[in-house]
Amino acid sequence: MNKTLFTFLATAAFVPFCFTAGSAQAQQQVQNIAVQVSKPTAEVQPTMWGLFFEDINFAADGGLYAELVKNRSFEFDKPLMGWKEVKQNGTGTVLVINRTAAKEANPRFARLKVNAENGAYGLVNEGFRGIGIEQGKQYNFSVLARQQGDENLKMKVALVNRKGEKLGEAELGGLTPEWKKHTVSFKATATEPKAGFQVLLQGKGTADLDMVSLFPQDTWKNRPNGLRKDLVQLLADMKPGFLRFPGGCIVEGKDLANRYQWKKTVGDVEDRTLIMNRWNVEFSHRNAPDYFQSYGLGFYEYFQLAEDLGAEPLPILNCGMACQYNTGEVVAMEELDPYLQDALDLIEFANGPVTSKWGKLRADMGHPKPFDLKLLGIGNEQWDEQYMERYRVFEDVLKKQHPEIKLISTSGPSSDGPRFDYLWKELKNSKADYVDEHYYKSPEWFQQNAARYDNYDRTGPKVFAGEYAAHGKDDKDSESRNTWYSALSEAAFMTGLERNADVVHMASYAPLLAHVEAWQWRPDMIWFDNLRAVGTPNYHVQKLFGANSGTHVVPVVSNGVAVTGQDSLYASSTIDRNTNEVIMKLVNTSKSVKPVNVNLEGATIQKRTANLQVLKAANPMDYNTLDKPQVVAPTARKQNFSGNTVALKLEPQSVTVVKVPCKKLNIQMVRQ
Ligand code: AHR
Repeated sequence: MNKTLFTFLATAAFVPFCFTAGSAQAQQQVQNIAVQVSKPTAEVQPTMWGLFFEDINFAADGGLYAELVKNRSFEFDKPLMGWKEVKQNGTGTVLVINRTAAKEANPRFARLKVNAENGAYGLVNEGFRGIGIEQGKQYNFSVLARQQGDENLKMKVALVNRKGEKLGEAELGGLTPEWKKHTVSFKATATEPKAGFQVLLQGKGTADLDMVSLFPQDTWKNRPNGLRKDLVQLLADMKPGFLRFPGGCIVEGKDLANRYQWKKTVGDVEDRTLIMNRWNVEFSHRNAPDYFQSYGLGFYEYFQLAEDLGAEPLPILNCGMACQYNTGEVVAMEELDPYLQDALDLIEFANGPVTSKWGKLRADMGHPKPFDLKLLGIGNEQWDEQYMERYRVFEDVLKKQHPEIKLISTSGPSSDGPRFDYLWKELKNSKADYVDEHYYKSPEWFQQNAARYDNYDRTGPKVFAGEYAAHGKDDKDSESRNTWYSALSEAAFMTGLERNADVVHMASYAPLLAHVEAWQWRPDMIWFDNLRAVGTPNYHVQKLFGANSGTHVVPVVSNGVAVTGQDSLYASSTIDRNTNEVIMKLVNTSKSVKPVNVNLEGATIQKRTANLQVLKAANPMDYNTLDKPQVVAPTARKQNFSGNTVALKLEPQSVTVVKVPCKKLNIQMVRQ
């Protein structure tokens, strides 16, 4: 038993209290809790609750990036994957041509020889597990094309259902012997989650096609070739403090050749070199042979997304090491320079003047204003000396040339153990600003570790709880690992992150997004298919904390002791200097109602009503699905004060956020 728990049990004074639960009468004990509103102990960093984005589970291509055509540039390993021939009273052949010397970044295109004077010949694309379209919405087609001679080939594009019935179509003429971008926009006549997209040619002759693309017009902020609006909206609703991108293991790659190289993800989309997504082959039980990275969602788009969300951009770069679970390949120390140069150039891309090489590219892409990059991650889940050796090179140079940039280093993939201890020890002696910690653990671990940071060293680097999720059991649905019990356990743990906001400066659940038919890893925070998206119970917990972060931590005590899980109750509280509110988070992990009297010590309450948001479920194993998205969702309530005390009945296995508007709050920090 730990010391805190022992002290609590030894001194706790319970007051008997009667309440009615359904028809059953039960004797419960009221626990007195004090929120020491006038004793703020730490600032809550604006970055505290953020987002971890990784292109896993079809989160980018087939997900957030709204492109509907899979393998649009014929660059997959199997160049015609996702495509099939279509013959409608016509014949033809398709040949994939590689012109590496002429176009290294995107060498392949499809050559269609067509004999269809009274019909059509072409290709149909299957999309990412189908193409989701909505009736009445506009779709924008574009293609790079040329014809060989002066034949008068006509191009017809159409969305079709499984029966081959057309759900929207358009026609294009005017193919020229030179490559040219052709575009046309048309309306979908029906809603269909699994449409196909036909690109057909009429006439006789030869046409070359590349970058065959179809986007909904209705994207986030109506940006052409942009992001899926419903998914970004869910992220925006969370009010994230930072956006970490592009992952995760994807940064490292299976080997160094497969690593993420940001320079290949910027500039014109047709010049971004597609590579295999490492999650394509990572898990034999969840193989995804059609998983590649087109980089249509690249570093520019990530920065732009962070800006849209009001979140600090937090790019993570490869540090010269491939995934140590895979090849573990490392670059020779004497060849580390290009990796370091990538970091320096990225800072220039994000923050440099438009007269600089990379700043100019940013401006040419549409953002002359700097992105105001302040945070940079060096490596993902690396471990042992080979990491420190490489990290130090980055640190030496970056701290000298860019002291304004805070560096994120890693403690490896485990939450403890010799590798973790080694890296923390080394990093404490370095100039690392943040150390990234990851924990994918059981729900019970999360409940038991709510006090993890209570005794952490306050003098070393700050903590970035960069990837965490409670992993429990699953059922038949893809979404079924995202149970209420897992979310409740994370909430209990998160009260500990908030209480220790002086040492924990950033935290993010992982992974963020998953396609219900194309995932590799679960649980995940948001599930989607081609037309719908659902926030899991874990999403709601994250949102409750993120949208109610406050600006300063204040102690929550029972009998003078922090509430860290004694008698299954977890609590933390902040105050908000801007809105003059006290914001408490109370987590009851027990199976019974918990009556508590919460006293706001030192506060002058403005209205005698507290605003409550309660998150709970009928059953701890409940989860949300695309078909039943509201099984676990917060409900709003109100509760009156008596003096400075509000009496709450915390429901069994529930999270309650309590907001109390106050008169001017004292923000004089108290030394701990
Ligand atoms: O979030 C999924 C993976 O978990 C990340 O890519 C990696 O960093 C961790 O092991």
